[in-house]
Amino acid sequence: MDKILVIGGTGQIGKLLLSGLSTLPYSVAVMVRDRRKCTFSDSIDVIEADLEGDMRFATEGCKTVIFTAGSGANAGLDKTFLVDLWGAKKAVDAAKENGVEHFIMVSSRGADNPDFGPAAIKPYLVAKHFSDEYLIRSGLTYTILRPGRLTDEAGSGLIKTIRPEDPNEQVISREDTASVIKYCLIHPFVHGKIYELYAGQEKIPEAIAAASD
Ligand SMILES: NC(=O)c1ccc[n+]([C@@H]2O[C@H](COP(=O)([O-])OP(=O)(O)OC[C@H]3O[C@@H](n4cnc5c(N)ncnc54)[C@H](OP(=O)(O)O)[C@@H]3O)[C@@H](O)[C@H]2O)c1
Repeated sequence: MDKILVIGGTGQIGKLLLSGLSTLPYSVAVMVRDRRKCTFSDSIDVIEADLEGDMRFATEGCKTVIFTAGSGANAGLDKTFLVDLWGAKKAVDAAKENGVEHFIMVSSRGADNPDFGPAAIKPYLVAKHFSDEYLIRSGLTYTILRPGRLTDEAGSGLIKTIRPEDPNEQVISREDTASVIKYCLIHPFVHGKIYELYAGQEKIPEAIAAASD
């Protein structure tokens, strides 16, 4: 079975994603910083590694890497640089070194142009911008997802990929974001594509297909 590595699998999107992956025919590995703090089902291979350290071995034997790690809203600028930027760069390098075929990056709305994103998170958006650019130029097959502000609401399965003008509407649930990641795993037409993600009115397959032309 093809192997998927989830980097950030102990996070909020990561956990939702992992619970949904059990229905797919993949072998699943999760990269964690401290295995003693995690409980995963026995079918999941737990790999202990830190984006701030040497994590190259974590991608060995993987067909797909999903990067949904992040320094978190309360982190300082040091972690924004070391995890969101440099950690993402290291994950891309590790994927390339080990022949990964598809890299799915959870980025952020505003990473396309941090000058026009929310001012309060501009350094984070700059980090996301350059990690996305690094992935795009890496030669890896990529899919970049740029969700709006994440919420803990239940997923509706309904999204849109066009950014709403009202910043208050630039939101999406973590559950719907996890569903889009899962969708991207099994639909090769998402390769080489970048999608913004917001709560909307279209079913995920229709919305992603419409944004893929
Ligand atoms: N919050 C938002 O509104 C928003 C909007 C758009 C995009 N995003 C992006 O969405 C993604 C997921 O968000 P989320 O809410 O699920 O995040 P989260 O709950 O904060 O989870 C972050 C994950 O990153 C891991 N991590 C942090 N530092 C690490 C390191 N040095 N090495 C390895 N793993 C590390 C954490 O592992 P530990 O369990 O070890 O801490 C955790 O699994 C992130 O990329 C974030 O930047 C967020």
